[in-house]
Amino acid sequence: MKTSTNTIHMIAPRGNTIAVTAAGSGVPIILLHGFPLDYRMWHGQLADLSRNFQLLAIHFRGFGQSTMDDDGFGLTDLADDVDFVRQHLCDGKRIALIGLSMGGYVALEYWRRYSSQLAALILANTKPDVDTAEARQARLAMAEAAIKNGSWHAVSGMLPRMLAEQTFRMQPEVAQVVETMMRDARPLTVAAAQKAMAAREDFRESLTRIKCPTLVLTGQHDVISPVSNNQRWSAEIPNSKLEIIPNCGHLPPLEDPQAFNRSISNFIEAATN
Ligand code: MLT
Repeated sequence: MKTSTNTIHMIAPRGNTIAVTAAGSGVPIILLHGFPLDYRMWHGQLADLSRNFQLLAIHFRGFGQSTMDDDGFGLTDLADDVDFVRQHLCDGKRIALIGLSMGGYVALEYWRRYSSQLAALILANTKPDVDTAEARQARLAMAEAAIKNGSWHAVSGMLPRMLAEQTFRMQPEVAQVVETMMRDARPLTVAAAQKAMAAREDFRESLTRIKCPTLVLTGQHDVISPVSNNQRWSAEIPNSKLEIIPNCGHLPPLEDPQAFNRSISNFIEAATN
């Protein structure tokens, strides 16, 4: 069945375009993609969850059909973009916010700035910690490499860590979709996103203050956001639940959309009823 989506192009206060791919109606769910991916990673959610919810997949600045200023962006700018989208497309309703990995860093920034607008928070395959000095250096090196040698050269080493080994083996088409998104990421965007993530805030001390219903979710075999780390930090969020999606790596929305969608819709229905 073909999914009925439309992509809306909004002009943000600074003049940049923010694109949002939308489907369905009901409680609004805003979807924030990972790095170096784009809104297409949410295909299986736009297709399925839109039967019961209003889905809004934001294209972060410089990714997909959104534009970016020459001087890059910070994660707080991306959180402000989320609220800009909420103000214009959600009919005054509070939102359920799903952020995967880099999208999770932005979701935490959104919570810090706009917590009263959150009906539910879903932190998928992400973490609240900042980088080690070494990891920060690696990000800055990748930013430089993307500008100098092109995005694919800079990001291709990430591909083997994005999916579970069995996803590569049993669902090569999923690996192909991920590779396509990674190849399509623009060099300036890769550089800006890496600099923004290197400068992100530490949320470890803030977790106990997250009051909205929160679902923390990761893949059983995620090596970027491992189960043991998620068990440790999710326990600090008072009103939270942890779910592990079996047989998946870093991208359960693509590796097992049915299991991911089931968790999401059960959780959001319970949080918003
Ligand atoms: C992502 O999937 O968004 C990235 O792995 C996040 C990161 O580089 O920390």
